[in-house]
Amino acid sequence: SRTIRLAVIPGDGIGPEVVAEAVKVLDEVAPSAGLTIEKTQFSLGATRFLSTGDVLTDDDLASISSHDAILLGAVGGVPGDPRLANANIERGLLLKLRFTLDHYVNLRPTTIYPGVDSPLSNPGEVDFVVVREGTEGPYVGNGGAIRVGTPHEIANEVSINTAYGVERVVRFAFEIAQSRPAKKLTLVHKTNVLTFAGGIWRRLVDTVGAEYPEVAVDYLHVDAATIFLVTDPARFDVIVTDNLFGDILTDLAGAISGGIGLAASGNINPDGAFPSMFEPVHGSAPDIAGKQIADPTAAILSVALLLDHLGVPDAAGTVRDAVTADIATRQADRPRTTSAVGDAIRDAVAASLAR
Ligand code: NAD
Ligand code: IPM
Ligand code: MN
Repeated sequence: SRTIRLAVIPGDGIGPEVVAEAVKVLDEVAPSAGLTIEKTQFSLGATRFLSTGDVLTDDDLASISSHDAILLGAVGGVPGDPRLANANIERGLLLKLRFTLDHYVNLRPTTIYPGVDSPLSNPGEVDFVVVREGTEGPYVGNGGAIRVGTPHEIANEVSINTAYGVERVVRFAFEIAQSRPAKKLTLVHKTNVLTFAGGIWRRLVDTVGAEYPEVAVDYLHVDAATIFLVTDPARFDVIVTDNLFGDILTDLAGAISGGIGLAASGNINPDGAFPSMFEPVHGSAPDIAGKQIADPTAAILSVALLLDHLGVPDAAGTVRDAVTADIATRQADRPRTTSAVGDAIRDAVAASLAR
């Protein structure tokens, strides 16, 4: 059996609640794939900051980096909490991990599961994946402000797009598109206004695309993409886009698929030089934290992405099948606790492994 050293970062708010369920399911399925999961817990996030003043120490980072993979719940406090004003948990922790561990692919699949309560009445067969760039764009912190707080304040936040960074994520997106039945790739950007950043994305999609003649390429401006995600989401197969557009589109994708509590993600370093990190798309949801009402499905489906990444797609499929079966039984008027959902999915995994 292969030992996987997994760094577990439950985080804040509903993070620990949903991670507990994800770990339950992982522990159930892992032996069937010949995996022994050796977990190290890391206490990181707003809670840790408020008690120790640390966001992510060099020791934390070194220790996390020495693991094979990372499972994260969510980090961050109540938006606008003045005690966290100088902490910048999102940048100092989450983005620091994504950047340092070179998670240049932020993989965010969307499926509308049969029987799910989608806000769209007739969505059709929806199964697409957003390949969101994870290490560049407006997220890099290339900004500044002067005369802060005066009427003459000037603030900027400049998007960085390198040929190296754009090409590698575009290539990854073409590889995925090539492997999928529909073989379609949509670049989403805003080339009509962001002419420089848009220009490099368009050109590299054209150049790399020439190597993938079987993949049909199209392009949408990001504003129009939000229309089609609501009116015709079945048209999408693989979407490749920059860090910020990908952030926004994937919350929307989560909403149409039946709720942000279903949306999983992988922050992937495809070269394997650093551990990849798997986490739900959602945040720490302070509004529902501690009530056992959060949906753990996104965290559980993030475990499926982890299993794919570890090269055990059958185990990933077992988890997805268990989720699919569970979703089909859900009734809005009969809500279950977070741990009851986790138990049901774990039991479905166990039953399918026993067959
Ligand atoms: P959020 O995703 O935490 O919550 C948005 C809405 O979705 C809330 O109404 C919440 O109750 C609901 N929701 C989220 N997850 C749910 C689930 N599993 N089940 C049911 N409902 C769910 O976004 P926010 O309120 O903008 O952010 C809260 C905090 O989380 C902020 O500090 C933010 O920076 C942080 N955040 C962290 C991550 C991360 O760690 N990856 C991601 C997004 C936001
Ligand atoms: C996400 C989150 C993060 C992002 C924040 C919390 C930094 O919204 O994972 O989607 O913008 O990437
Ligand atoms: Mn987001």
